Amino acid sequence: MTKPILLVTRKLPADVEARAQAGFEARLNADDAKVGTDALVARAQGAAAILCCPAEKLDAAAIDALPDSVKVIGTFSVGFDHIDMTAARRRGIPVVNTPDVLSLATAECAMLLIMAAARRAGEGERMVRAGAWTGWTPTQMLGRQVSGRSLGIFGMGRIGRELARMAQGFGMPVHYLNRSRLPAELEHGATYHADETAFLAASEVLSLHAPGGDATRHWLNEARLAMLPRGAIVVNTSRGTLIDDSALLGALESGQVRAAGLDVYAREPEVDARYLNRDDVVLLPHLGSATDETRSAMGHLALDGIEAVLAGRSPDNLVR
Ligand code: DGY
Repeated sequence: MTKPILLVTRKLPADVEARAQAGFEARLNADDAKVGTDALVARAQGAAAILCCPAEKLDAAAIDALPDSVKVIGTFSVGFDHIDMTAARRRGIPVVNTPDVLSLATAECAMLLIMAAARRAGEGERMVRAGAWTGWTPTQMLGRQVSGRSLGIFGMGRIGRELARMAQGFGMPVHYLNRSRLPAELEHGATYHADETAFLAASEVLSLHAPGGDATRHWLNEARLAMLPRGAIVVNTSRGTLIDDSALLGALESGQVRAAGLDVYAREPEVDARYLNRDDVVLLPHLGSATDETRSAMGHLALDGIEAVLAGRSPDNLVR
């Protein structure tokens, strides 16, 4: 029996590629070359399924140009703001993603950025590597202790909840802003705010965990930054579009925000050049889910969803 064709846009963990090759005629990307939208559409000819990544923009034009053979799109990500869901629905192409399996890794990354920003880890590391460290002094490179400081989580989904659990280990009182209050067993003792003013005022450290897209574009703007306690720390591991970069840079400059930790950017892989020479910003290259365990689990979950759709079932990881 001939296997269905699966277009895999980027190089995946070896165990995921092996499974793709076992179940499909897999069009892999051994060189891990970047795939533009036109090339993706061209490579999809005859494919029953596409397994794409967040860096590939599948806008309405690209979805409309896909061949009729494509019955499902899997994205190697929980975020699906790179896919025009209205166009996919119009074409009747279901989309599956990778929720849950990356929550721990992404929350770890948020905690890493909180610590690194508060304790000036990037700046210290650069100083040591530059051979510029002249020795211990009582007042050198003093940071901010995070233990006992309040953490505000914008978006208390699965990743936000993992971060809340971790923050408890640091004795950080957790506050959250969410569409609705969670059941008590999911709150991990966190305080729910329906009112963003009270939430922001309570957030000595603010971590963003809401999806990207138009509804959250520039959510963290000048007005909201001004509502944070002076000297707050801001961390973003969700999507770069949530932050108005000019507003954050202004808040860093004035001291309203003491330090920031960013893993995501509005126009990745481009990073706003104004961040690059600032010692009060820690910059990571979108590493949130980048662990061996997590990337493998993401690949398998995406394949589970693709296989289910092709078999006529409705998978749990169908984007609704
Ligand atoms: C996602 O899954 O949306 C992440 O941003 C990739 O780690």
